[in-house]
Amino acid sequence: MITPRRINQGTTSRPEPLTGGAGLYDHSARDAVSPTGVRFAGIGALILTVGVAAWLVSANPAFENGKAGGTPNQLAPVAQAAVLEPGSPAAEGAQIIATKPCVGCHTIPGIPGATGQVGPNLAGVAGRTKIAAGAVTINSPDDLKKWILNPAALKPGTAMPNVGLTDDEATKIVAFLETLK
Ligand code: HEC
Repeated sequence: MITPRRINQGTTSRPEPLTGGAGLYDHSARDAVSPTGVRFAGIGALILTVGVAAWLVSANPAFENGKAGGTPNQLAPVAQAAVLEPGSPAAEGAQIIATKPCVGCHTIPGIPGATGQVGPNLAGVAGRTKIAAGAVTINSPDDLKKWILNPAALKPGTAMPNVGLTDDEATKIVAFLETLK
């Protein structure tokens, strides 16, 4: 009688050496890394990701206390403008200048939309003793008022036009300009 050969099925007979590809349940080609090793690697990667993310958030200056998003550079121009007392001539002047063509030609701190590039930036104009490229001397706010009422009278041929201000408007605009130190 011929006994069929058993392959790897009992403890009584010596297991045949596995050759690979012998059948569905032949696991001779094992994974290179053990399942436990893979599990530890996965958990390790997760912890590393969370750690790096937490560090990136804490290292971002935008999350510092007391600071809205945005860099100090973006916020600085707003900070230049003086705080004007409501109802004062300077506050009225700020409102008047915002409605005049000045804003199309000049960048003016504290006046929303005043981003003109044709004339000089008016930041710090109150501290200037010479304006219009040195052609006009400013000894008092009254000189500044004469200038904005009629620039060509002080500097013939200047590119700044007379925009037709009333005396009262000019007085208040100058009161505002005097806050731009
Ligand atoms: C069409 C453009 C234009 C308009 C509108 C205009 N300006 Fe000017 N402004 C200029 C130019 C250009 C200069 C420089 C003039 C020069 O050097 O001859 C100037 C110069 C000045 C200066 C002197 C600044 C400096 O440091 O030299 C002041 C102050 C000023 N403008 C205020 C005003 C005010 C206030 C208004 C509105 C009532 C106004 N400007 C409207 C173009 C303009």
